[in-house]
Amino acid sequence: MNILFLNGPNLNLLGQREPEVYGRTTLADIEAKVRDRAKKLGAEIDFRQTNLEGELVSWIQEAKGHFDVIVINAAAYTHTSVALRDAIAAVGLPTIEIHLSNVHAREEFRHKSLIAPVCRGQIVGFGVNSYVLAVEASVNVIEAR
Ligand code: DQA
Repeated sequence: MNILFLNGPNLNLLGQREPEVYGRTTLADIEAKVRDRAKKLGAEIDFRQTNLEGELVSWIQEAKGHFDVIVINAAAYTHTSVALRDAIAAVGLPTIEIHLSNVHAREEFRHKSLIAPVCRGQIVGFGVNSYVLAVEASVNVIEAR
């Protein structure tokens, strides 16, 4: 079971960025929690972050044949990127959209996700636990194949 975790723009700043919204946990801390859960469930993890939309598109394209599931926190690109949506649809790997915050309880522009229609499901609003839950959801998706 190989799971690719992709993190979009500004998530490298977690821990210092708007802590009242995103908490004090760093992305490195989140990665450690994800790895811990994955190890217990017997899954391999690749965990990446970039601020560049095109890099996310390339990573999604390259995932085919190497990963069973993609988990993506596309951050702000969630609400803007047709390119990401098209990449997810083109590759056809089961993809799980996640967010730390409950985007539906925030500004209206965050209510719309351009990638949601091509994702298997969404996990939003559980803070760091959104990532841990995504490991479990991924394993479920793989085992149900
Ligand atoms: C986010 C929510 C997005 O709206 C925002 O642009 C982010 C983080 C989250 O994890 O809550 O950068 O994806």
